[in-house]
Amino acid sequence: MKIFVINGPNLNMLGMREPDIYGTQNYESLCRMITDYCGEKGVEVDLFQSNHEGVIVDKIQSALFEDVDGIVINPAAYTHTSVAILDALKCVKIPTVEVHISDINRREEFRKKSFITPICKKTICGKGLIGYIEAIEFLIEKIK
Ligand code: DQA
Repeated sequence: MKIFVINGPNLNMLGMREPDIYGTQNYESLCRMITDYCGEKGVEVDLFQSNHEGVIVDKIQSALFEDVDGIVINPAAYTHTSVAILDALKCVKIPTVEVHISDINRREEFRKKSFITPICKKTICGKGLIGYIEAIEFLIEKIK
């Protein structure tokens, strides 16, 4: 089983960025946690982060040519704006779980709208970094 874990803009700044909202662990420790978990479960994982919408679209499209079984994505701010990311996910038709570290439903009004929720198998938000593990667990159950 192979999965992509895709993170959008500013998630490379975890730890430094609004720690009261996103916590004090940095992006590298998020990657380590995911890599360790996937190692234990025998899941091949490709971790990817970009601050650029089109680059994220390219990455999602590449899943089609790499035999990817599942996608975990936190599109960050693009969650609330990106039809392009929605369309890319619709195009690849690979089971996808949406993750948000914070609870987007309990913040500013504009964060309540997610363009990708309708095509995701599950949305996990407000659980901190462990939400990524829950998303991977869900995909493992779904795919096996
Ligand atoms: C986020 C929530 C978004 O509203 C925000 O723009 C982010 C991170 C989260 O993980 O809680 O950058 O996706």
